[in-house]
Amino acid sequence: MPFTGNCRYLRAPLIIVVSGYPFKPLRGEILVAQSRRSRGWERISEQIHRGAPTSNISMKIDPIYIFRKTWATYQKVISHNLMFHREMLTAVKKLLESHPGPLNVLDLGCGDATHIGKMLNPGQVAEYCGCDLSPYALDVARKNLEPFGARVNLLCRDMVAVLREAPANHFDVVYSGYALHHLSLEEKQTFFTESRRTLRQNGQVILVDVMREEEQPRPAYLDSYNGAVAARWEALTTHERDQVQEHIRNCDFPETPTDLRMLAGKAGLTICRRLEKQTWHEAWCYSA
Ligand SMILES: C[S@@+](CC[C@H](N)C(=O)[O-])C[C@H]1O[C@@H](n2cnc3c(N)ncnc32)[C@H](O)[C@@H]1O
Repeated sequence: MPFTGNCRYLRAPLIIVVSGYPFKPLRGEILVAQSRRSRGWERISEQIHRGAPTSNISMKIDPIYIFRKTWATYQKVISHNLMFHREMLTAVKKLLESHPGPLNVLDLGCGDATHIGKMLNPGQVAEYCGCDLSPYALDVARKNLEPFGARVNLLCRDMVAVLREAPANHFDVVYSGYALHHLSLEEKQTFFTESRRTLRQNGQVILVDVMREEEQPRPAYLDSYNGAVAARWEALTTHERDQVQEHIRNCDFPETPTDLRMLAGKAGLTICRRLEKQTWHEAWCYSA
């Protein structure tokens, strides 16, 4: 039984609102839903993220503003390999080649699915469910995933909500690329716990994300990463670089590899392996 998710949705590009009851979308369609994040929400600063007192530190920030407003800047980042997508792709593809499938794949924060579309062969996939909050990205994803045909479901929904509703014991791979660092620590724990629940026996969580160096506090990470953006991301215009740096400062909450291992371990995903590392960009695989 494919996992199609339940949501209130707008069906792109026509903007027809159907709300309030579970539904089963036609396979291969893009569904655009409202979620707590797409309504705009109060993102909490680092101190809250870490469970510290909350006075005077909340601020209105939308972690996907940059992706919602335009997908073009991120496409430039990808095409100039500024976040090492190429190296991550090679490492994850190698791992996935040892799983001929057919696989049920859940992709959380799938974006335009450029890379997952290259990591997997169409014949290897029984079912692909991708979710993202950016309708721009999902429009591109729909095209990128055409070779996978009707086995694709794209949901414009919050990844944590999708994961919570995912059926138990269903997916062979839960994949997430450069999206987990937008979540709070508590949500990251939920990511691992719910992933474990929805994984089949021998299933794997594959995580590509930015990670702080061990012992590196978030402010030092932000300074270093934004320093690298200033020095090396010359493919972007000054305005685009400014936007990216602001997004990173306000919305990026990467953990260290050890912290992530601990979260995974608490969820029963005790076997952890690093697949790739390029500066702060890492690929890991976690299994029970
Ligand atoms: C840096 S992009 C990564 C896209 C793609 N996975 C990749 O590896 O290139 C991060 C994506 O996560 C999405 N995102 C961030 N928070 C999300 C959430 N809570 N639920 C769903 N998508 C989210 C953004 O809209 C954006 O498309």
